[in-house]
Amino acid sequence: MAAPQIYYRQYSGEADLPRIMALVQSELSEPYVIYTFRYFLHQWSAYAGDPANSDPIGVIVCKQSLHRNRSNRGYIAMLSVDKNWRKRGIASTLVRNSIDAMKEDGVEEIILETEFDNYAALSLYESLGFIREKRLYRFYLNGKDAFRLVLAVSPSDSEDNSDNSSSDSPTRSSSYPRHPTYRAIKVIPYSDEEDDDDYVSTR
Ligand SMILES: CC(C)(COP(=O)(O)OP(=O)(O)OC[C@H]1O[C@@H](n2cnc3c(N)ncnc32)[C@H](O)[C@@H]1OP(=O)(O)O)[C@@H](O)C(=O)NCCC(=O)NCCS
Repeated sequence: MAAPQIYYRQYSGEADLPRIMALVQSELSEPYVIYTFRYFLHQWSAYAGDPANSDPIGVIVCKQSLHRNRSNRGYIAMLSVDKNWRKRGIASTLVRNSIDAMKEDGVEEIILETEFDNYAALSLYESLGFIREKRLYRFYLNGKDAFRLVLAVSPSDSEDNSDNSSSDSPTRSSSYPRHPTYRAIKVIPYSDEEDDDDYVSTR
């Protein structure tokens, strides 16, 4: 049997909302309310679907804004793939597409938080170049720590995707201070056998 053709598209409006909420709420620990979804969904979000079914099989929800009037920052707020569709590259495709869309808008850095022990998410984002910039203690309502991950986007990456790219022309980015160079924090390598009690300092 031929593999099903997965399609990717942008959020199309309120009709998508209940389905996206259902997929995200079934997987993420934070109890997001409908207003949170609306706030983010109207900024940038994408939907992976299977033509045989109207429910999403994957969703990514992002926003992009000027951070402290200095850097053009992207934020990945939610990412979820249906359990039956995992390990087929759907999340990587959603994240890559979002990064490309943000680059077209001149993003300089993209950040997100994920639970410190969400190894699937950490592995996914690190394979795409994100680094662990900070550990946020008891960040989530369930008391878990988070890692803040960051992807620093080089000016040439953004310029490559802009309409008026030119290697020697002055760019918008050069007119205001750019983000600092990010340093990865030192982390204990994880393994399936790891005893979490040794790893979490606040629990
Ligand atoms: C994390 C999640 C989005 C990954 O979705 P996915 O479509 O299965 O991911 P992909 O197939 O694109 O995997 C890409 C890479 O991620 C990593 N990865 C994905 N699932 C993994 C797992 N269970 N264990 C370890 N690494 C994993 C691997 O590096 C993988 O690359 P590989 O296939 O070459 O090994 C999915 O497991 C999910 O929805 N989890 C619940 C919600 C969640 O944790 N969201 C992230 C919150 S920030």
